[in-house]
Amino acid sequence: MKLRSIELEVPDRESAVRFFRDPWGLLEAGERNGTSYLRGTEDIPYVVSVAQAGEPAVAAVTFSGSKPELARIRKRAAAAGARLGPSRDFDEPGGGSGYLVEGPEGHVFRFVTEEKRAKKLRPDRDRPLQVTHVVLNARDREACTRFAVEVLGFRVSDRTGFMNFVRCDRVHHAIAYAQSDNSMLNHIAFEMTDIDAVMRGIGRMKDAGIATFWGPGRHGPGNNVFAYFVAPFGAAVEYTSEIQRVGSSYRAGKPEDWKWPPNRNDHWGVSARNAAAISQAERQFRFRPLAA
Ligand SMILES: [Fe+2]
Repeated sequence: MKLRSIELEVPDRESAVRFFRDPWGLLEAGERNGTSYLRGTEDIPYVVSVAQAGEPAVAAVTFSGSKPELARIRKRAAAAGARLGPSRDFDEPGGGSGYLVEGPEGHVFRFVTEEKRAKKLRPDRDRPLQVTHVVLNARDREACTRFAVEVLGFRVSDRTGFMNFVRCDRVHHAIAYAQSDNSMLNHIAFEMTDIDAVMRGIGRMKDAGIATFWGPGRHGPGNNVFAYFVAPFGAAVEYTSEIQRVGSSYRAGKPEDWKWPPNRNDHWGVSARNAAAISQAERQFRFRPLAA
């Protein structure tokens, strides 16, 4: 199972696409039925879709997996009484079939078995490779984590005082739940080739008049290098690299394992978090509920 893409809805599709392409560095991967698709350099047909809508929303966080994996999750979701969409074909780059399922706080996940992968492109320091994690706000992150583990089949990598990190392959986290007073999108992280590419990205964003609201820094859980920005369409986006890959022997950390000394909230301590900008960006995109 692998995190593949995020499906966004925005009031101004053209400007969001422009942002993702330039300065963010994604490549356009076509347009179908009024939805624009953008890809990175990995062999993933697309990593972000952008549709026009009245309100900003996340239609789904999409994972790709095999048919048997999808069948197992669907069975467990039905047994758990989760809201499930019909199994169907998807008309999008990569094609394939699958379904949508809603978590306990309305986070919508989509599982797809693709028909074909895209051609892998040469890695480029000015372009993301792929989407590597999505962080979701949660009122009850333990209930959400239970759903991720028991229904989706994910594993817990770490818990801090306010976040739970879960993985679906060797990448330290595909999803993290951040304790919050809402269940909206927290941020989307794009994997860059290396730390140099993250720094170049900070420069490109600066040229575009977009300041870093936290970073550069290096996180505790996942050990990844990061820089966060607010995209012009309102969502928080992250450039990241060097994300830890873990195996089944990884011992899940507890909050007491991830305590920072005073005046630190990352390993480097070179940048402060702009708390006001963060809390605003983290309450822009709610999840669009599955049709009943
Ligand atoms: Fe992140």
